[in-house]
Amino acid sequence: MIGGACVTCRTISDTSHTASPSFFLRIEVSVTFAHELNRDLETEIMKLLELNMRPLYDQSAQGWNRREKLKEMREAPSRFLLARASVRTRAEDALSEGANVSAAGKGELVGYTMFRLDFEECDEDDPLRLIDEQDIELAYCYELQVAPPYRGKGVGQFLLGCLEDIAKASRMKKVMLTAFLHNRSALEFYRAQGYTPDLISPQETDGDGHTIADYQILSKALVQPARECIQRARPHVQSQ
Ligand SMILES: CC(C)(COP(=O)(O)OP(=O)(O)OC[C@H]1O[C@@H](n2cnc3c(N)ncnc32)[C@H](O)[C@@H]1OP(=O)(O)O)[C@@H](O)C(=O)NCCC(=O)NCCS
Repeated sequence: MIGGACVTCRTISDTSHTASPSFFLRIEVSVTFAHELNRDLETEIMKLLELNMRPLYDQSAQGWNRREKLKEMREAPSRFLLARASVRTRAEDALSEGANVSAAGKGELVGYTMFRLDFEECDEDDPLRLIDEQDIELAYCYELQVAPPYRGKGVGQFLLGCLEDIAKASRMKKVMLTAFLHNRSALEFYRAQGYTPDLISPQETDGDGHTIADYQILSKALVQPARECIQRARPHVQSQ
């Protein structure tokens, strides 16, 4: 993975309201590492994060902590997929068909995801866990943010797909993320992308109905459980 390189591009047309799209949204996704963040980029990312998430954090038990978010962004393992766009009319798009898209970093930031390739604890019943394994290799998605005007156009799905491709290429076993329970639309989005509550996700309430956690840990497997493969090949092997 090369920092700053354009990993992929996609053109999205505004077909939601009309059969003849009024614009094409060309998004270009590039990879940026924490050490490549400069003040302008940090400000741009933080502005979108704060706009999208501050109201949700304000409703949560942990509250909004800008300094903590900045620290997380700047830590060495953090990687970013930045989606930049140029919105063009159909005529403009036809004229420039085949031309190169703008260089990374030039268009408006329409969305991004911040992730890390990491180890995370796994439940002893996790089907992806190998015998005696305490932790599992995964891509942790810390943030997935799409600017309000660009939502519902496939940008979030595209970014998450890019992250999953990178995770698979890096031989991670799953993608994991955390979402607030009161962020209903994000939970619906992740469900539509194949994410389900992970076995390590905390219980929402205790026996008396008191809230324990106001968030859920979701995950999506990227590989087949090795145990299933072994058992298929050697049906006599006992599962551990
Ligand atoms: C959640 C978020 C990242 C989704 O990105 P998006 O670009 O709006 O979503 P997409 O257009 O890529 O959606 C892809 C698919 O997910 C599903 N989906 C998206 N939002 C949904 C919702 N609110 N309810 C149900 N399904 C939804 C749909 O199936 C959609 O496919 P369709 O267009 O064919 O119907 C974006 O809305 C966002 O930034 N929200 C605010 C920040 C946030 O909550 N981030 C997540 C923090 S955990």
